[in-house]
Amino acid sequence: MTRPSPKMIASTRKASSRMADRNTPFIYNEWYVGAFSKEIQRELLARTLLGKRVVFYRTESGSPVALEDRCPHRSFPLSESHLEGDTIVCGYHGFRYDSQGDLIEVPSQKECPRGVGIHRYPVVEKGQVVWIWMGDPELADESRIPRQSWMEDENWECSSGYLYHKGNYVSMHENLMDLTHLSYLHADTIGTPDYARAPYEVQLDEGNYKLTRNVVPTTLSPVWGKSTGLNDRDTAARIITSEFISPGLHRVSGKFYDSALPEEQREEFQICTAHILTPETHSTMHYFLVHGRDFATQDEEITEFMHEQLFAAFHEDVVGLGILEERLEEHDESVYEVSVASDAPAIATRTYLKKRAMEEHDAEAVS
Ligand code: FES
Ligand SMILES: [Fe+2]
Repeated sequence: MTRPSPKMIASTRKASSRMADRNTPFIYNEWYVGAFSKEIQRELLARTLLGKRVVFYRTESGSPVALEDRCPHRSFPLSESHLEGDTIVCGYHGFRYDSQGDLIEVPSQKECPRGVGIHRYPVVEKGQVVWIWMGDPELADESRIPRQSWMEDENWECSSGYLYHKGNYVSMHENLMDLTHLSYLHADTIGTPDYARAPYEVQLDEGNYKLTRNVVPTTLSPVWGKSTGLNDRDTAARIITSEFISPGLHRVSGKFYDSALPEEQREEFQICTAHILTPETHSTMHYFLVHGRDFATQDEEITEFMHEQLFAAFHEDVVGLGILEERLEEHDESVYEVSVASDAPAIATRTYLKKRAMEEHDAEAVS
């Protein structure tokens, strides 16, 4: 068997240095989901996002607020303090901050220093999530939020959940783009053996990468078979598209139908999952998930069944990629990786992430 030569390994390493990995700087000038709407209430919520500590709360009029979670007096965490109206009173010496992050009271003196405060992060609430901009506030353009209309469509039934992932977000993007793993990592849950060998098409546009797999005919795993009623046939069609939408969002959408029926008689069943990836640190990630379907929308039993099945599978990703992360930690430089043809959109995704990160990083270094 021919093994790669040292020269080949060196050139592969060089190529892989163009791709993002767990050591790549974060992309701050981007919208990420900071929390589900329901998590932000009239209590202080601490969360680390892209390596920065943030405290969330909701004002009395209901608007979400995100502030830097550090009192500039002596660094006490404001999330360990308390809310009074719309202000936070530091739990150490009582400095008070308003919802803009401005220091408005110092109890030990009459005059409050002017122009002192903490960073306030732009946030936008859309449907069931709160988006946050961790970068330069001047660049926070709401029109760039990768909004998903199906998540807010009343004709779709959605369920959501959260997983804490001990792994980096780049590997998770790659995992979602390379669904050949369904036949292996998810062999006991949502995968079928034919998935990895099915024909596929890729679409590579700058910043938007897709891979569509046509598994026809096939038998459906229970999560799709039972919910669509196609479980008793081996003529089902399963068309799934993985799509990188932004550094914080990957969508997997799909449709199922009975391929034995003529096109005009087919009933199509559509699903979508928003895999919302927000780095916590370089080796941990907040994994927000919203799954939706456009069929059996009133059937709560199906909602519960699908949620349970899908989260069992997502848990497999978290376990599998957690093991991967431990291995990656053992390498102190870019490792030698072999890629194959179906990796093209994953490579494009990682190359794009690296490019965005380095552009931002280099601009920061110059300024
Ligand atoms: S550390 Fe917050 S008031 Fe002193
Ligand atoms: Fe998976």
